Amino acid sequence: MDDFQYRSGQLFAEDVNLDELAAKVGTPMYVYSKKTLLGHFKKLRKAFAELNPIICYSIKSCGNINLLKLLASEGSGMDVVSGGELYRAQLANADMSKVVYAGVGKTDAEIKQGIDAGIGYFNIESEAEFENIASIAQQMGQVAHAALRVNPDIYDPKTHVKTNTGKKETKFGVDIERAKRFFESYGENPHCKPTAIHLHIGSPIYSPEPYVLAITKALILIDELRASGYTIDTLDIGGGFAADYESGKSPDWQDYADAIVPLLKDKGLKIILEPGRTISANAGILVTRVQYLKKGGNKKFVIVDTGMHHLIRPAMYDAFHFLWPTQVDSSQEPTVRKEEMDLPGLQLTDVVGPVCESSDVFAKQRMLPPMQRGDLLAIFSAGAYGMVMASNYNAMVRPPEILVDGDQSLTIRHRETYEQLVADELQTSPV
Ligand SMILES: Cc1ncc(COP(=O)(O)O)c(C=O)c1O
Repeated sequence: MDDFQYRSGQLFAEDVNLDELAAKVGTPMYVYSKKTLLGHFKKLRKAFAELNPIICYSIKSCGNINLLKLLASEGSGMDVVSGGELYRAQLANADMSKVVYAGVGKTDAEIKQGIDAGIGYFNIESEAEFENIASIAQQMGQVAHAALRVNPDIYDPKTHVKTNTGKKETKFGVDIERAKRFFESYGENPHCKPTAIHLHIGSPIYSPEPYVLAITKALILIDELRASGYTIDTLDIGGGFAADYESGKSPDWQDYADAIVPLLKDKGLKIILEPGRTISANAGILVTRVQYLKKGGNKKFVIVDTGMHHLIRPAMYDAFHFLWPTQVDSSQEPTVRKEEMDLPGLQLTDVVGPVCESSDVFAKQRMLPPMQRGDLLAIFSAGAYGMVMASNYNAMVRPPEILVDGDQSLTIRHRETYEQLVADELQTSPV
């Protein structure tokens, strides 16, 4: 699962006592484990080793440059969706030939930036976008490489409606029938060469079956395209592999690989994976301090010093995050992380943040150990879609990010200051 574990009632990140760390850094703070981050990358690579895939870590899930550097030095490529993410990948010294660039709205400037950088593939989301990339590449006297994002019309009912992307009606990619027409129109384009197919069916996908269905459809398409004379040498199967938000709920990397690898072996295809959360989610936690206890009717509220402005997943996707005090009686040490915990002395509690929105809730009517003002609480599996989605709503500063490596900890992003919060507004300039 991860390297955030209790020892005699005290939560540690690897060998760092989190209460001691919070005393130095203050709260709230994001804390990452290097061992978990790289361990997940290596386990995924091992599970899919037979395919020798290019693993393009999805920067959108957690994009701190220092974490990207660790992954890049392990050989990871990067999946980016903006000029800003590409810039991060460049600063992290990622191998540009292992960068794939998705996103439905790439601007001319971003396309030029990608061509200049020599990225591996643009993942093409529409015919209009392809024509624009080809025309920009022609003007630059360069040849771009493209993977057509195909929408396999797969719906995974277990995936949240806001993160389900494989249906025909989503804004992403083109459907299979259109894919064939796409190659008839652009298959021989000399300025942007479409030699790959890209899939990304949503996230998190809690079982291998949707991948099997989508890949099977993609392989039929690839056979047809090859039979028509087009060169298709690469299949990018996207990301979406689940993370351990709750113990035992998600398949292991090996479970996905056991279902996927036999389909793709010996197909003469280079395989690309775009994992995000499965690498980063459990590599990070958000540590917060209890500010106040309050009653509302019969409810007991615990109000903490972080909220939806730092971790929006519960408010945005009704996402579940396990949370627990960092110091507990040994009888209340969680050996599993579940919504319903069966341990002595727990109380029904709502954990809420300070933001002026009623959706600023981390836990509703959950059985938790009793807490006091000043206690620390860890919100687990917060490494993915946590800090990257953090905002300054209510003019709150964003928290620092700390990287733990064994018994060492390093600030890899400092806590924002009020000065930084207003800096871009202090000097006006005529337009
Ligand atoms: C194209 C693409 N690839 C990869 C990912 C990463 O998904 P996850 O973090 O669930 O692995 C996403 C997430 O939205 C995506 O849109």
